[in-house]
Amino acid sequence: IANLRILGIETSCDETAAAIVTRLADGSAVTEADVVLSQLDEHSAYGGVVPEIAARAHVDALDTLIEEALQRAGITLREVDAIAATSGPGLIGGLLVGLMTGKALARATGKPLYAINHLEGHALTARLTDGVTFPYLMLLVSGGHTQLVLVKGVGAYERWGTTIDDALGEAFDKTAKLLGLPYPGGPAVERAAASGNPKRFAFPRPLVGEARLDFSFSGLKTAVRQAAESIAPVSDQDISDICASFQHAISRTLKDRIGRGLQRFRETYPEITAPALVVAGGVAANKDVRHTLDTLCAEHGFRFVAPPHHLCTDNAVMIAWAGLERMALGLPADELTVAPRSRWP
Ligand code: KG4
Ligand code: ZN
Repeated sequence: IANLRILGIETSCDETAAAIVTRLADGSAVTEADVVLSQLDEHSAYGGVVPEIAARAHVDALDTLIEEALQRAGITLREVDAIAATSGPGLIGGLLVGLMTGKALARATGKPLYAINHLEGHALTARLTDGVTFPYLMLLVSGGHTQLVLVKGVGAYERWGTTIDDALGEAFDKTAKLLGLPYPGGPAVERAAASGNPKRFAFPRPLVGEARLDFSFSGLKTAVRQAAESIAPVSDQDISDICASFQHAISRTLKDRIGRGLQRFRETYPEITAPALVVAGGVAANKDVRHTLDTLCAEHGFRFVAPPHHLCTDNAVMIAWAGLERMALGLPADELTVAPRSRWP
């Protein structure tokens, strides 16, 4: 296959992003532009993402961002071979903005359009960054998703586990809110936990010991609330202790849940000698979580693959790459009638 160059567009949540990525004939990739505009400031006053504000911010920013990406790559739109845009899952307003923009550019230039599943973008990123080969296990831990997925090939995914209530990032965000820490909660909880005692509170470890590979985090949030309410007034040290105990419970839970997943992978693919666990999503930035997964992988003989932080969180490079993977396999582009899907497992 010749070199393939694609424009990627991502607008499913609160990041507006555009990227230009080229896949070389040998299967490697060159990121020629990677621009991300975070809407954090617009949403932080509300303690979470407000869908209507997000959609409007995407409208305001996207065309300029695409122009900036083209400029950084030093090309015009005519010089891309295709356009890839996230078409779900996510907030419908943002998805409409990104997908309609992708369609319009495809219509105007006659280039093919690839409508990309956002989760597929996260799932395939490690092939771009680390050349991971199929099959592998992927743990996605973001503000909206907590999933353990078997990645068998492009378009071939098996969801082995998912959260039955809150996503892990959501649990961090809600815990932070309960404790009066700023949004987004993950980094704030991690910072507070650094000087806390992880053994002070025995928080629940939901589903630990169960054979199925699902997750549950809403009980943990309730336990945090009860702990905070049992102390009055709550000091900074109390907050640190709660955060450290919260992270400790999460580490133990992940150890059990993911440990079972690694075991199942071994049983499914006994012939694979050096399997990989790939992590994605904003929570992957958490040092405690990383350390837990790293140690667990070492114990099970797995390679632990954590792409650089900016490619673990929402970005357009992963959307571009997912499109390139489909193109390289000769898979068909999408019709311009394709519709966005807010839910898309
Ligand atoms: O992947 P992401 O940037 O956006 C989506 O949800 O799509 O993930 C954001 C989530 C938020 O819930 C945030 O609190 C969490 O990732 N997060 C963290 C850390 N940094 C971000 N959670 C724990 N520790 C962190 N250091
Ligand atoms: Zn995401």
